[in-house]
Amino acid sequence: MTTRTSHRMTPDELFDILKNIKVGGTVCHYSLKKCEEFVPVINEINELKEEKKAVILAHSYVSPEIVYGVADFVGDSYQLSKNAVSTDAKVIVFAAVRFMGETAQILNPNKEVLIPATDDGCTLADSINGQQVRTLRKQFPDYTFVCYINTTAEVKAECDVCVTSANVYKVVENIPNDKIYFLPDKMMGLNLRDEMKRRGAKKDVQFYSGTCYVHVEYQPEEIQKIRLEYPGVKVVSHPECSPEIVRHSDYVGSTSQMLDYMLKSADKEFLMLTECGLSSRLQVEMPNKKLVGSCVLCRYMKSNSLEEIRRVLKHPAPKDRVILSKEIQARALKCVEAMFRFAEN
Ligand code: 13P
Ligand code: SF4
Repeated sequence: MTTRTSHRMTPDELFDILKNIKVGGTVCHYSLKKCEEFVPVINEINELKEEKKAVILAHSYVSPEIVYGVADFVGDSYQLSKNAVSTDAKVIVFAAVRFMGETAQILNPNKEVLIPATDDGCTLADSINGQQVRTLRKQFPDYTFVCYINTTAEVKAECDVCVTSANVYKVVENIPNDKIYFLPDKMMGLNLRDEMKRRGAKKDVQFYSGTCYVHVEYQPEEIQKIRLEYPGVKVVSHPECSPEIVRHSDYVGSTSQMLDYMLKSADKEFLMLTECGLSSRLQVEMPNKKLVGSCVLCRYMKSNSLEEIRRVLKHPAPKDRVILSKEIQARALKCVEAMFRFAEN
């Protein structure tokens, strides 16, 4: 999604966009007063972007005032990595988490990539390091090592092919080796094993033990309860959820694929088993559709704020910059480029 407009925003305009958001009761909702506080910072950031020749990429999970106020591109990790390749901006501010900023840097070694998140981790990316991958490779010498994009650059540098939630099944199917070691997400590994069986693709899929603390929260009982209350509801979930959740879902895909499914669907009620930012996007962009049930917040994605984006644009500190050694960048690039090759043929 491209959201940027060049004109100065008014509080009424912002409130008009955000007024339908009601996620998790009172956890996330907007008033005109809140928008009056946001708008001066939004307008300052949009001016700073022009001055610094910067572009802002934002994952759909970050707060709506970032998505609709200052982001130039909003999407899932696959779309954003493609946006990072196509931009001619000198500076990329990546409102998401560190591994996504690192991917932008891997693809753009000559650009400056800034990370405004104050807590830029991810339970998946933090679950494994390069040394652990090297040890695993010795244990599984004949396997192609496939890493989820939710990994550090150091881990990508040790792997053969990267995948995102948008292309994992297609990429693995296209890899000319039946032996696949997938890391770090155990749930996605289990879902990958099931999907390969379903497609009749003979793949021996081994996987690591990491999990996303947001998506493992969801339980199948929640779906059963909601289906009783809303018989026509469609359940959409992310492949980081457990195989039980996936089996009980009507649609499973990346965050952008989930939005696309709901946009094209004639159905009106949806239970979304992912982070709350996506629920907010449904309420803003599809006001005729109803969100049922609740959602879980990712503390890492929600540590992005307008104030921090303004700060990194004005006075970036060393910790805000993504710095990769030439060697790690070059090896991780091979892994990411292999993804583009297998995903796009
Ligand atoms: P997407 O690539 O589907 O946006 O997923 C990224 C992520 O971190 C999900 O938890
Ligand atoms: Fe990581 Fe989960 Fe947050 Fe996505 S939602 S960034 S996988 S912790």
